[in-house]
Amino acid sequence: MEKLVSLAKRRGFVFQSSEIYGGLGSVWDYGPLGVELKKNIKERWWRSMVHERHDIEGLDAAILMHPKVWEASGHVSGFTDPLVDCKQCKHRFRADDPRIKGTPGQPDAQCPVCGSKGTLTAPRQFNLMFKTFMGPVEEQAAVIYLRPETAQGIYVNYLNVLQSSRQKIPFGIAQVGKAFRNEITPGNFIFRTREFEQMEMQFFVKPGSESEWFEFWRGERMKWVEGLGIRSEKLRWHQHDKNELAHYAKDAYDIQYEFPFGWQEFEGIHNRTDFDLSNHQKHAGKKLDYLDPKTNERFIPYVVETSAGADRTTLVVLCDAYTEEEVRGEEGSEGGGDQRVVLKLKPSLAPLKAAVFPLVNKDGMPELAHRIHDDLRRHFNVFFDDGGSIGRRYRRQDEAGTPFGITIDGQSTQDQTVTVRDRDTLKQDRVATPKLVEYLTQKLAG
Ligand code: GAP
Repeated sequence: MEKLVSLAKRRGFVFQSSEIYGGLGSVWDYGPLGVELKKNIKERWWRSMVHERHDIEGLDAAILMHPKVWEASGHVSGFTDPLVDCKQCKHRFRADDPRIKGTPGQPDAQCPVCGSKGTLTAPRQFNLMFKTFMGPVEEQAAVIYLRPETAQGIYVNYLNVLQSSRQKIPFGIAQVGKAFRNEITPGNFIFRTREFEQMEMQFFVKPGSESEWFEFWRGERMKWVEGLGIRSEKLRWHQHDKNELAHYAKDAYDIQYEFPFGWQEFEGIHNRTDFDLSNHQKHAGKKLDYLDPKTNERFIPYVVETSAGADRTTLVVLCDAYTEEEVRGEEGSEGGGDQRVVLKLKPSLAPLKAAVFPLVNKDGMPELAHRIHDDLRRHFNVFFDDGGSIGRRYRRQDEAGTPFGITIDGQSTQDQTVTVRDRDTLKQDRVATPKLVEYLTQKLAG
C-alpha cells in the first residue's frame, strides 16, 4: 500500500488534506489526475444507471436535511458503533478491535496502545453522524446532521420524482454525492475516510417482487464492476449474516475486492424492504403509498438498493492497475533491462488519454508536437512533455496510467506521421497525423 500511496502523491492522484498543517486524519484531496480518474468512474456509473436505462431517473439532493429524516431512518438511534476509551492514554477504539486483549470494562482488558491493564472503559454506543448547528444559535433545536448516506435524499423525494417524471413502479432513482461518517477507526488510505462519495441507486418495486429484483441488480452490478477491467479472481461476493445486517436491511450482499490489506467490501446490494418509506410516512405524516394503475392496488414500495463508494471503487481500480515489471530493450530505455511501475488502467478510465512528445527540441519537432497537442486536446485529455530523455518521459506516463505516447520524430516533419506507443504492449504504430483522432477514438472505446 505504501508504494501506491507514494505513487498517488508523486503523480498527483491523491494528497493528504491540509498537508502543510500536518494533515487532517483520514481526509484526502484528489489532485489533477485523481479528480479525472474518479470523475471517469462516476460518469461511467451515471451513464450505465441513468442514461442507458429508461426506468431510472437522476437526482442531486442537498447534503443537509431535516433532522427528523434521521430519526425516521433509524440513524439517530441505530447508526452507532460500540466504543471504548483508555483512561490512561486517552486513545479510543472500537470495542471489537482485534488488538484488544480481554474484555473491555473488566480488569483483564489491556489497552493495545499503552499496554495498561484494566484502564479500558466498558463499551458505549457512539453515533457516527457528524452534528452541526443550523443558524446562529448553538442549541439543541438547531442541531442538524451531515448525511451519513445519500439514500435518504432519494426516499424523501421519491414521490416528487415519480410524479414529475411520470415513471411507474418498478423504477429507480440514482444519485452521486458526498456522505460523512465520524468513523472511529478510519484508515487504509482512501478506503475508510470520514468524508467520502457514494454512488447510490434505490429501485422501487412491488412487494413480493423484491427477491427477483435483488438478484437482477446483483448480476448487473457485478457486470459493471467487471467492466472497469478489474481481474475477476480479485472479486467475490459476501452475504451478510444476521449480525452484520444494517438496521434497515433484510438481506445484503457485498462485492469484495482483495486489497493489499485483505478482502473488503466496496459496494453493497441491499434489500431494504419498505423500512425507509414506511418510517418516513409515519414520521412525516404524509402518504407515501403508490396506486398501481393496472390493479388499483395501493402499497408502499419495497426498495432494492445498490450502494457503491466512489472513493473505494477508485482505490480498487488503482490497486488492480498497479504493476511493477521489467521491460527489455525498449527504445529510449537505458541498457537491456529496465524496471518500471505502470498503472494498467482501462484506457477509457485513464485520466490522460495520450501524451505528446517531441523526440528532440529542435528541427521543427516541438512546433509540430504543439500543433498535434492543440488538435488532440479538443477531443481528449492529453498531456505535452518535452522534458528529459524519451525513456524518462515514457516512465512518467506509465506511472500516470496514460495509455498512449505519441512521439514526433525526424520522419514526422517529413511525412506527417507519428509513432504511437501502447503503454501495456510497448508496441509502436506509425500513424498519419490526420488519422490520429480516429485511431485513438477506436482504441479508447469500451
Ligand atoms: N446506503 C447504504 C449504505 O450507505 P454502506 O455499506 O454503509 O451502505 C455503502 O456504504 C458504500 O459506501 C460502501 O460499500 C463503501 O464503498 C462506501 N463507504 C461507506 N463508508 C465509507 C467510508 N467511511 N469511507 C469510504 N467509503 C465508505
